[in-house]
Amino acid sequence: MPLSGAYATLSPVSAFSPPEVRSLISAERLALRVSELAAQITREYSGRSLVLLCILKGSFVFAADLARAIALPVRVEFLGVRSYGDDTKSSGVVQITQDLTRPVDGDDILIVEDIIDTGLTLSYLREQLRSRNPASIKVAALLHKPARMRREVEIDYLGFTIDDVFVVGYGLDYAERYRNLPFLGVLDPTGAPET
Ligand code: IMP
Ligand code: MG
Repeated sequence: MPLSGAYATLSPVSAFSPPEVRSLISAERLALRVSELAAQITREYSGRSLVLLCILKGSFVFAADLARAIALPVRVEFLGVRSYGDDTKSSGVVQITQDLTRPVDGDDILIVEDIIDTGLTLSYLREQLRSRNPASIKVAALLHKPARMRREVEIDYLGFTIDDVFVVGYGLDYAERYRNLPFLGVLDPTGAPET
């Protein structure tokens, strides 16, 4: 399917495609789904005080594309969290590495997450944010891995549901690598270079 709008002017997307990563969702499919989510968000947040809360680091690519496809005067904030070491298993411990720069009381917060895996990060974030008195809190997640769910979490805008595989690219990393892949892929850890 040909790319249109902003994506056409950004093309050609990088050809970076390391052999140890098998493509799961192409850049074109990602772009299409992101624009569908953005259209829905644009409709549902019209006239509201929308703050996109980009959860660093993994959401930076998704949030950048989503923000540019939303036709509303949004604010963008960043929250740094760390729930994984340099491993492919959740530590279950969530650490805030960078806090908001402005208050969000009275705002409509849309948490922008790369992936909901065990759900531990998101349930912790919701609790933290509720204490800051926003008007509402909703969640946009690019990916959901229901197989590993440990906390029931509500996802209001979901890109794709995936199997229990470790994915990289489009912002997601393995040991801080592969975030710049323009597509989403499955990593074969035995083929990954030494870090
Ligand atoms: P949760 O707390 O287990 O839901 O994990 C959420 C965070 O773990 C995400 O924001 C990611 O940073 C990371 N994560 C979970 N699964 C993957 C994956 O398959 N690839 C890369 N990062 C992942
Ligand atoms: Mg990560």
